Amino acid sequence: MLQTMAINRTMTTTSAAIDAEIDRILAAHAGREGPLLPILHDIQAALGYVPEGAIPAIAEALNISRAEVHGVISFYHDFHTAPATRPVIKLCRAESCQARGVEALAAGLVDETRVSIETVYCLGLCSVGPNAMIGETLHARLDTAKLSALVEQVA
Ligand code: FES
Repeated sequence: MLQTMAINRTMTTTSAAIDAEIDRILAAHAGREGPLLPILHDIQAALGYVPEGAIPAIAEALNISRAEVHGVISFYHDFHTAPATRPVIKLCRAESCQARGVEALAAGLVDETRVSIETVYCLGLCSVGPNAMIGETLHARLDTAKLSALVEQVA
């Protein structure tokens, strides 16, 4: 259970604004059972990554070790510990999207250096693939032209 007392911590690698956001997220999950993943998702959603400097605060708030927090962050590929240097396009490469040609789309992006392509497995829109997600927005029925337009849009 998340400790509800004030969190006394040292975060040397993050700014005051980031510290405040992390404090807000930790407080929002105070008293909930099993909040580590929701906390990490909320931090990633708010900041775009989970700062390494936040790990001690999360561990302290949840009364678990820093190694446990770090282990969960590193286990799930969706979590990043540094800001993305390029826009991220999450490309679904699960079975239905594969059957609908995602590998040909991915091959066309091999030399694309303006964006980061991450592989995900199923975005829940299997019948209208190939699909991708940019930020919180889903993009369906991708073809080369649509994917190129998305790259131009975000790069
Ligand atoms: S397989 Fe791609 S969205 Fe489900």
